[in-house]
Amino acid sequence: MDTTPTTIVIFGASGDLTSRKLIPALYNLYRKGRLPKQTQIIGFARRAYDDQIFRDQLHKGIQSFSENTYEPALWEEFAPKITYFQGNLTDSEDFVELGKYIEEIELSPANRLYYLATSPEFFEPAIEYLGAVGLAHEDKLKASPWRHVVIEKPFGHDLASAQKLNQFVHTIFEEQQIYRIDHYLGKETAQNILFFRFANTIFEPVWNRRYVDNVQITVAESVDVGHRAGYYDGAGVLRDMFQNHLMQLLALVAMEPPASFEADAVRNEKAKLLSAVRPVRLSDTVAAQYDGYCQAEGVAPNSRTPTYSALKLNIDNWRWKRVPFYLRSGKAMTRKTTEIIIEFQKPPHLMFGLSDASDFSPNILSLCIQPDEGIHLKFQAKTPGSDQDMRSVDMEFHYQSAFEGEPLPDAYERLLQEAIEADASLFTRSDGIEAAWRLIDPIIQGWNDEKSGELAIYKPGSWGPSEADERLARDGRVWRVGCGCHDHEVGLQV
Ligand code: BG6
Repeated sequence: MDTTPTTIVIFGASGDLTSRKLIPALYNLYRKGRLPKQTQIIGFARRAYDDQIFRDQLHKGIQSFSENTYEPALWEEFAPKITYFQGNLTDSEDFVELGKYIEEIELSPANRLYYLATSPEFFEPAIEYLGAVGLAHEDKLKASPWRHVVIEKPFGHDLASAQKLNQFVHTIFEEQQIYRIDHYLGKETAQNILFFRFANTIFEPVWNRRYVDNVQITVAESVDVGHRAGYYDGAGVLRDMFQNHLMQLLALVAMEPPASFEADAVRNEKAKLLSAVRPVRLSDTVAAQYDGYCQAEGVAPNSRTPTYSALKLNIDNWRWKRVPFYLRSGKAMTRKTTEIIIEFQKPPHLMFGLSDASDFSPNILSLCIQPDEGIHLKFQAKTPGSDQDMRSVDMEFHYQSAFEGEPLPDAYERLLQEAIEADASLFTRSDGIEAAWRLIDPIIQGWNDEKSGELAIYKPGSWGPSEADERLARDGRVWRVGCGCHDHEVGLQV
């Protein structure tokens, strides 16, 4: 662990993200001894707080969002590391003052992590002023401490704005100083995809068009738009979930093995994969909205914002030629689950005389990202006492029982630790972000241009619109949900 003193400045510190995620994550890192001894955390925001009011607010956050690990004595030890700086993100003078304040509290040269937990319109001014007052500058000639900036999502609203933001950030920070957050990459199970694929011998040889029939990625949420209409109604599911989280999961499942685990080696392969995805035809997309969305607080009464989408993607490379990838995500669905299904081809010849009692299913590997983190492999077994009947059975691995003890760390804990240790492999690079927008942008454009474009309606609490089932049925397939306590298939049955 790098023990260099570290200063973390959180911009937009009075917001929800800081008390719900960032401070609990830093507190847990402290608890585990994973923060450099001399760590200072400065909250920068407009409100007229002082250190004590700010700490009290964060204390409440820790008690409710980190209840399993909250220890009053430990909080008392940790809290003095946190101070508050009142400032305005659009006032350059406040950044001059911030610079002086940081100098005052740092006892020796320290690494600095600037975390932009602000709404996106403040990314540019904050970055501009960090540059203007010299806070972004790293001295290359000496082994001097680093300056990193963490940028929250959304990174751009479309390809053009993401490119513009990348260009702007690059005028102040070099790419290796920039850490763009996609919290799905901080989930242990998402990271485990590469370990599962490349630290085992038996899976990778069948991980291709010769053995895989199709791949499905489902990110279902049971929550609806809630109080987030102000942002969500202008974004919709493709920007909110696909451009970032689903594309990153897709890259992890489908990319080639990098030669090393270095950040750039991993990110080169991801970017290569995303740029091999064929532009999506509108006929391979489904857009839908849950019934009642337009009545939610803050949503335009005639809003056509999709809250659900399903896409069929093709990857034009040697490994995945003609293997469809089906992706879907939506709000207000049956239950919260994120999983990746690898459906293998049927055996070339079945010699068994299957009776009606048989339940034949191809081999299915299910990588359950959340909530029941684990992996399931479905295979056929002979039904005892029968002649030739068989049934699908499940080989299961659950994180919780296999790794007893500590609960899985929250994604933000992992990401903050990586950023503090200056490892960018779990953060997205400019080319990866732009490649993802290049795929998503034309779909949104296409939906907008098609005035009479179909916007299906689905029942809250369902698995989405029947159109998505029909889309798979056209290919002779069904959506599958394989992990969790109920091993079952949804949609049309085979
Ligand atoms: C966020 C989206 O990025 O991810 C939210 O903006 C969504 O709309 C959330 O609810 C889902 O994250 P998780 O970790 O709960 O699956």
